[in-house]
Amino acid sequence: MQTRILTGITTTGTPHLGNYVGAIRPAIEASRRHEVDAFFFLADYHALIKSDDAARIERSRLEIAATWLAAGLDPTRVTFYRQSDIPEIPELTWFLTCIASKGMLNRAHAYKAAVDRNAETGEDPDAGITAGLYMYPVLMAADILAFDAHKVPVGRDQIQHIEMARDLGQRFNHLHGREFFVLPEAQVEEQVATLPGLDGRKMSKSYDNTIPLFAGGRKQLREAIMRIVTDSRAPGEPKDPDNCALFTIFRAFAGEAETEGFRQALLDGLGWGAAKQVLYERIETDVAPLRERYEAFMADPAAIEAILQDGARKARAIATPKLAALREVLGLRPMRTAPASTSEAGAATKQGRTPRLASFRDTDGHFRFRLFSVDGEQLLLSEPFADPKTAGAMQKRLKDLGSAGAVVRIRANGMVLEVDGEAVASTPEYRDEAAREQALSQLREALDQLAAQH
Ligand code: TRP
Repeated sequence: MQTRILTGITTTGTPHLGNYVGAIRPAIEASRRHEVDAFFFLADYHALIKSDDAARIERSRLEIAATWLAAGLDPTRVTFYRQSDIPEIPELTWFLTCIASKGMLNRAHAYKAAVDRNAETGEDPDAGITAGLYMYPVLMAADILAFDAHKVPVGRDQIQHIEMARDLGQRFNHLHGREFFVLPEAQVEEQVATLPGLDGRKMSKSYDNTIPLFAGGRKQLREAIMRIVTDSRAPGEPKDPDNCALFTIFRAFAGEAETEGFRQALLDGLGWGAAKQVLYERIETDVAPLRERYEAFMADPAAIEAILQDGARKARAIATPKLAALREVLGLRPMRTAPASTSEAGAATKQGRTPRLASFRDTDGHFRFRLFSVDGEQLLLSEPFADPKTAGAMQKRLKDLGSAGAVVRIRANGMVLEVDGEAVASTPEYRDEAAREQALSQLREALDQLAAQH
């Protein structure tokens, strides 16, 4: 089975060298492994919590998308999308909000730090704190749980959020008696380098010590590198490679032999100016071809938009049926199904333990039904019928026939159910053949269970 890895990138900044080495490069490498099913998304709803500067968010979304694509993310292999294109995420956020304990959210690090700052300055504890900041972990849990991610690669500062996502998933599973959600695990890469910034502290936007990855081209890259703080040792004096940001950054790009060469040169007294030039050239070797792609993407936002729309379609093929199933268990079924209550009442004692047919009226006024598995997963969505009677008759026909009487045809990544030579319902699109095969056996089983009950 593939491991589903999912991570979000908050769209408030411009990617820098530290992001590239610490997050982008390792994530893209991991996404190429065939046992990995990777999901990457632009967390632009999270960005709204941090910033109300629309222009900045808009620009950051474009830059981050272009950066990941330029760095080699293959959108045909992974699912690459934008949080704000997935309405199921805010919907799930609300469902989770309703079971999140306020005490848990009170303990979230980011919120607590904000409260502590207020306490220090003698302010009201919640002064200047939005409900958005408070709810941040719940939105993040929805990001993760909507797609049943197994692993979530994050920095240390995010571990608590993943634990909260687990907690919420577990609580929901417990309340509703089934494994609705996979419980995610944080994946903290110990191997990956955290780059020092210009001043030697960790490279971070909040310290204003970053080296841009692509922005400003190679001129700005070189200028930034020339500003890296060094000690005052003159050319000819031996340098200490293990205590200099320059060397740490070099090592994050170069292979072992090259790194040893650079170490020796520093020990032999290479001047700081010359060392910076060596570093610049080494980084530029890696970055130049990516920058060229980056610039091409930045010049063609419509191409990025198309990629993201495609990603949203793939993501929603998973999230839409998932949320439909959750609505069902929460009691948010359309009321039109109530009249079908004779068989419903009988099934009620075994509630949730049998596959279920649910009728509804769609937005065009047609009558349709869905078939849900024992686990509440949507297996089928019917074709539209002109009146409730025909829709009802078709449901009865399915119960009469069981799996033996229906023909299942493969269409794209989904399946179409034919009865008496006519297409009557279709499944969601599945991610791959294996998922579709699994769905097929679930579908057969559900149809047979329906027939047996009948
Ligand atoms: N909070 C994460 C960060 O600031 C970004 C993020 C949002 C995220 N949703 C996520 C990361 C879901 C992993 C999974 O880094």
